[in-house]
Amino acid sequence: MTSQQKKIRKMLADKDGILLAHFYVRPEVQEIADVLGDSLVLAQSAASSDAKVIVFAGVHFMAQSAAMLSPQKTILLPRVDAGCPLADMADAASVRKMRMEEPDAVFMSYVNSTAEVKAESDICCTSSNALKIINTLPPGKKVVMLPDGNLARHVVSVTGRQIIAWEGCCPVHQALTVEDVEACKRKYPQAPFAAHPECRQDVLALADLVGSTSAIIRFAHETKANEIIIGTEEGILAELQKHNPGKTFIPASPALVCIDMKKITLDDIERSLDTMQPVITVPRDIALAAKKALDRMLEVS
Ligand code: 13P
Ligand code: SF4
Repeated sequence: MTSQQKKIRKMLADKDGILLAHFYVRPEVQEIADVLGDSLVLAQSAASSDAKVIVFAGVHFMAQSAAMLSPQKTILLPRVDAGCPLADMADAASVRKMRMEEPDAVFMSYVNSTAEVKAESDICCTSSNALKIINTLPPGKKVVMLPDGNLARHVVSVTGRQIIAWEGCCPVHQALTVEDVEACKRKYPQAPFAAHPECRQDVLALADLVGSTSAIIRFAHETKANEIIIGTEEGILAELQKHNPGKTFIPASPALVCIDMKKITLDDIERSLDTMQPVITVPRDIALAAKKALDRMLEVS
């Protein structure tokens, strides 16, 4: 551990704080996290932790979810400008309008959404539990899934359910093309391809595994293959290499970099703990409604 990493760990201990980090953040931040996980694990950890302070090394919607799940804790997001362009592709007014057009549908929002959009939704999901959550809904029930169209189409392809897909996408995963994957496969013909469900449908059709960041990590660990093509954000490579030193991981494209996740540096975390800013809060009425959708998800996860 560097002296700065040690200093941050001490500041966390002094303030009864924990650091939650997503697999996409910088490796030096991942290294000192109390919990390193996918968005579901991080939401569960925020809800169950006894710490007084949660420092979130992730993006804004994740810190908002932590604030709603644990209103008694102080939630710090070291870079308040670390957003998620996918989350910004749905707004509450448009969801309300669609609810009028589809009064019988269940509105299922991906956690990559704003608190306002969650407040207009019936239930949330993450990439690791979307299939499980959809199976808890009555079989004939129409579902609107938002804001990620690719995740929605993936759920349709696996379950055959009647789903209306909101036309949002993650610009990072959307940038991965069939040509990129085919080029990797030409170079590494034996390598299986693991992809995140935020990728385009034609890309997912080439995948040996479609799953969340945690599912990709599990697959990479369990497969007998020594070379694996990775179709998600490059931050996951640090965790993959750490636990599988004998294997080679091939990023499916150099475009798989989320600049928002990369914003949070050790300097930002140190400053945030020093100043106890920026604190993420959600207005009470929105938080109450959004928490219902989050709680419904956590109950069945
Ligand atoms: P996970 O649900 O796999 O953590 O993914 C979150 C995310 O932001 C993917 O781009
Ligand atoms: Fe949002 Fe995509 Fe970045 Fe995930 S990778 S935080 S969905 S922009």
